[in-house]
Amino acid sequence: MRTQLPPAALARDHRFHRITTAERFADERLNGAGEERRMDPASNDVADRARRQMHGIFVGEIQAMEGAGRTAYDYSTAETPFAMKLDMARQCWDEARHVEISLLLGEHMGTEIGEYSEAVTLFEAACHPDPVFRLAGVNRALEGLAIDVFTTMRDFAVEMNDPVLHFCEDWMLADEVTHVKMGSTWLRELTKDDKERQTKALEFQRTVDGLFNFRGMRGENREAAIRLARKFREMAGFESEEIDDIAAMAAEERAQYATAY
Ligand SMILES: [Fe+2]
Ligand SMILES: [Fe+2]
Repeated sequence: MRTQLPPAALARDHRFHRITTAERFADERLNGAGEERRMDPASNDVADRARRQMHGIFVGEIQAMEGAGRTAYDYSTAETPFAMKLDMARQCWDEARHVEISLLLGEHMGTEIGEYSEAVTLFEAACHPDPVFRLAGVNRALEGLAIDVFTTMRDFAVEMNDPVLHFCEDWMLADEVTHVKMGSTWLRELTKDDKERQTKALEFQRTVDGLFNFRGMRGENREAAIRLARKFREMAGFESEEIDDIAAMAAEERAQYATAY
């Protein structure tokens, strides 16, 4: 089996609609009509926004599964220790469960595969040739984003009085904290004698984090569309300064783009 599978080779059937990462980030709708604000149960578009977000989580879970699987397989044990491969395999297994859970949650919320598009941005970050960059970009930046999104979605479920959504998000959140923690641990372990490589990987993480502030959608206050989950990030091995840094970057973007604030 080949290593380093390109995004174009991912298996999808006719139900999926692929768009490019550039198209996804050029979509002005994601920063308009109040979408920088949290999903408000009283607003008219709440059901559509929630379904779209659920579909986004679903395709993200597929790519997280594919990415973790590739990272378990793509390297020799000289490049990534066997114990790290086991962690990646465990993550792949978790993500497979998340795919099933998210698919069923989508049905529960009234959507289906392909109602919304799929950009394979997450998998693209999982294609970096250096495993340390994958840990930084995928396990810390994107799985970190999953922590924020699932915490926000779980709180939204409380507001919506939806125990099914709440239960599922809470369980997946626990797994995501573990995935980010794996990223933090292995990133430090693999670069303990190579600070330059570590610094470059953390810079890559910062770039991905910046992109996924979604032009101001992520923030720390209650009104943000995606709330930065400080407590869970700390549990996952983020230093307080690292979280402060993401918060500051997000606030800067928010000030730059938000029109309603
Ligand atoms: Fe997941
Ligand atoms: Fe994950």
